[in-house]
Amino acid sequence: MTSEYGKNPPLSYNEYLKVPELLKLQRTLSDPVSHDELLFIIIHQTYELWFNQILHEIDATIGWLDEGRPFRVNHSLRAVVSIEKIMVSQIHILESMAQIGFLEFRDKLNPASGFQSMQFRELEFVSGQKDEKILEFFKFDAFAYSRLKERFEKPSLGDAFWAMLSREGFSVGSREEKVSSVVEILTHPEKHPNLFVMQDLLIEHDENISLWRYHHVLMVERMLGMKRGTGGSEGVGYLMSTLTKRFFPELWEARTHLKAEPPQ
Ligand code: HEM
Repeated sequence: MTSEYGKNPPLSYNEYLKVPELLKLQRTLSDPVSHDELLFIIIHQTYELWFNQILHEIDATIGWLDEGRPFRVNHSLRAVVSIEKIMVSQIHILESMAQIGFLEFRDKLNPASGFQSMQFRELEFVSGQKDEKILEFFKFDAFAYSRLKERFEKPSLGDAFWAMLSREGFSVGSREEKVSSVVEILTHPEKHPNLFVMQDLLIEHDENISLWRYHHVLMVERMLGMKRGTGGSEGVGYLMSTLTKRFFPELWEARTHLKAEPPQ
């Protein structure tokens, strides 16, 4: 078959999406092959693809914030939170593995762990959760380290949001001023419609990643109980300690200070 433009053969779905190459990327380690290892690999690879797309949207969002284009900011943030909702529920597919089936191949993974997911750490850093100890952890992986170091040093999503608020005339020099600015936006949504939607999408991004942490730790406990992680941490105990992480603490704090106003 010849395409309209004389291409022979015309572009196909499989060629465009590199499906043959994609299907070669799931390499199981167990021998004889443990039935559930394919699911385990596919879930992790799917997460990495979604992380890639989220990073793409957040990088664009920072650019739109710098250019003062709230419609585009909110449009990209909407995509981010929609993907994250899928990411939260997707973790439970792993609970379809029988625990005993998982244990068949788990030892083969040692010492690899989700802890080493470069893109998850990029997502934390770009969202403002920067941790020098985590950056140093990647010192021996030149590719990951250079990406993480760049994100560690560059302004985060939160930095770009506060800079935009400052250009809009809000005082955001201190934590208290940031909280008061958000209280003003929450109190008068019709006066600040774009900023109201923006802070709502940002807190939803924060909430979604926290929800992912909760769902992940519960899934881990259901699969492993209190066994140590393949990455060397104590496992569930360590994961529980990450549940209080917040990207935008001022957005959460503003809710505490919000007071009722007479209806307008
Ligand atoms: C049966 C499946 C899974 C088990 C048993 C499991 C277990 C664990 C454990 C025990 C840790 C703590 C670090 C360690 O010592 O290894 C951890 C961390 C982590 N896992 Fe999983 N995990 C599973 C699936 C996933 C999936 C599908 C993802 C998706 C990317 C993921 C991403 C992560 C991330 C990002 C961390 C680091 C969290 C942090 O430090 O805040 N895990 N996992």
